Amino acid sequence: MIELPNVKNMNGLITFISNADDFMPFPIQRIYLIRDVPKGAQRGVHGHIELQQLFIAVSGSFKIKIRTINESSAYTLDSPTHGLYVAKASWRELYDFSDDAVCLVLASLPYDKEDYYFDEYEFFEIVKRRQL
Ligand code: TYD
Repeated sequence: MIELPNVKNMNGLITFISNADDFMPFPIQRIYLIRDVPKGAQRGVHGHIELQQLFIAVSGSFKIKIRTINESSAYTLDSPTHGLYVAKASWRELYDFSDDAVCLVLASLPYDKEDYYFDEYEFFEIVKRRQL
């Protein structure tokens, strides 16, 4: 979990991220938003070999389960001042979106449908084979 820089004054709060920031684990090449997720729906539920991402709950809350070859962890994202870094070779599942949830995703690469893996077992077989 990465704490993002904030500046607060009497007129509100500003949070900012740039590729020049030391805390940023990768150069940002793409940004997208996930919102209007119906109750009970899941997003993600796939793996990426190459992609790195930073997930931020800019509004509301949601949960995210991350699985790598070594570990599995679940996080609640509910604050725009924190971003969850997801490394290469990770499986992700997003769920439990609140009605007002808006998920901002910063991504290390352009959209590439070839880097989507929908079978979890096969995904980790590839990760193992490539020794990632
Ligand atoms: P997808 O990544 O499968 O969404 P999620 O993992 O949240 O369920 O993307 C859903 C659709 O949007 C899919 O048809 C591809 C398209 N899409 C793009 O065209 N560009 C993008 O950068 C992203 C993230 C998705």
